[in-house]
Formats: sequence, structure tokens, C-alpha cells
Amino acid sequence: MKRGYFYSRKLHSLLGIIPLGFFFVEHMLTNYSAFEGGKEAFQGSVKFLNELPLIFFLELFGIWLPLLYHGVYGLYIAYTSKNNVGNYNYGRNVAFLMQRITGVITFVFVIWHVYETRVQIALGNITHEQLGTYMHDIITSPLMFIIYLVGAISASYHFTNGLWAFLVSWGITVGPRAQNVSAKICMGLFIVMAIMFTLSLIGFRSAEFQAAEAIQSIIPFIG
Ligand code: HEM
Repeated sequence: MKRGYFYSRKLHSLLGIIPLGFFFVEHMLTNYSAFEGGKEAFQGSVKFLNELPLIFFLELFGIWLPLLYHGVYGLYIAYTSKNNVGNYNYGRNVAFLMQRITGVITFVFVIWHVYETRVQIALGNITHEQLGTYMHDIITSPLMFIIYLVGAISASYHFTNGLWAFLVSWGITVGPRAQNVSAKICMGLFIVMAIMFTLSLIGFRSAEFQAAEAIQSIIPFIG
């Protein structure tokens, strides 16, 4: 393996967990607050995050730039790397293929989702205070509910299976026994995250998030 390629792959693996994995878990918890504590709890979480000092730089270096590198370089890896049939057992080969498929789905979903949320805020079409109602209007559409479910479950698989690969790549789980144990823990984490995202989506559908006045007309393409 060429040295430059080796370091680019290592950086790709690292950024998937730090900072992107941290962001992903934080994002899941913020959304889950909509299910557990309703509108007030969700608005409170959004307000807390947006009042953090230097929020612009936190987002730039903690989300946008790492996401750009991890996403674009990840697509390159997905289309150029060879299948490992023969090197690993059947289960690992399926996981390797699933990692690529969920990576591509997550990539497309995230572009759409950031356009629909963060970009609309930046353009001044919605405010942070309106986000709960805005998500409610989006997710009550059955098609959007399914798109969000597929996006969130793909991203959860991609993150948790990626965590397994990260532990191998960084020499943390070395032998087959350690790798088997970590596979079970990572798949357990996947199930927990998939359930929490699903409950968040159900939370946003609740009537509590309905607006006094509809803001549907500004939802891109479905309003
Ligand atoms: C239950 C499903 C989800 C809901 C309800 C949801 C909701 C939101 C909301 C309301 C925002 C705007 C936050 C703000 O500006 O304060 C946002 C931003 C974002 N979401 Fe999601 N999201 C979901 C799933 C996902 C998934 C699966 C990913 C994949 C990684 C993701 C990635 C992002 C990113 C990258 C941003 C931009 C963050 C920023 O710049 O601050 N979201 N989401």
C-alpha cells in the first residue's frame, strides 16, 4: 500500500468516529428528546446547541469539513476497493458490502437532509424555534417518513459497523476473539440506535408539534 494512500485511509477511518461519530450520537439524542420530552424538550436541546460558544467553528471543523472528506473519499473507496471474498468469513463479507451500500445511501440522504434543514435556516426561510413544527410537517408525509427511516437506519448501520472496522484498523481489537466480541457489541449498538431514531420520528409526528399556522409552503419540493 502506498504511503499517501495509507494515511488518507487512516484519516478517513478516524474522522468517521472523531468527530463524525460523536456528532451522530449527539444528533440522535437531540432528536430522541422529541419523543421522550416532546416539543419543549426538543426546542430546549436545539437552543442549548445553538448557544454554544463559537458554534460556527464547531460546526465547520466538527461536522461540515470532516463530512465532506469522509463522504467524498468514502465514495472513492466504495467504487475502487476490491471485494475481499476469500479473505474473510461469509458474515464479514456481507458486512463489508453492507458498509458500502449504507455509505452511499447515507451520503445521498445527508445532502438532501442538510439542504432541507440547515441550508433553509441559513437562507432565513425558517428559524431554530420553528424547527420542531417544520420537522413535524415533513415527517407526517408518509413518503418522507419512509425516506427518513431508511436514511436514519442506513446511517446507524454505517456508523456502528464502521466502529467495528475502526477498532480493527487502529489495532484496538487484534485477535479473532476480540473482533467477535466487538462485532456483537457494535450490532447491539446498531439495534439501540435504529430503535431510538424510529421513536424520534414517531415523536415528531405527534400533534404537539403542530403549528398554529402552517409553514408547509416552504418545505422544498413537497410544500
Ligand atoms: C430522526 C431522523 C432525523 C431528524 C428528525 C433530524 C433532524 C435534523 C434537524 C432539525 C437539523 C437542523 C439542526 C439545527 O440546525 O439546529 C438537522 C441537521 C443535520 N442532520 Fe439530521 N435529523 C435526522 C437524522 C439524521 C441522520 C441519520 C443524519 C446522518 C448522519 C443526519 C445528519 C445531519 C447533519 C449533518 C445536519 C447538519 C448539522 C449542522 O450543521 O448543525 N441527520 N437534522
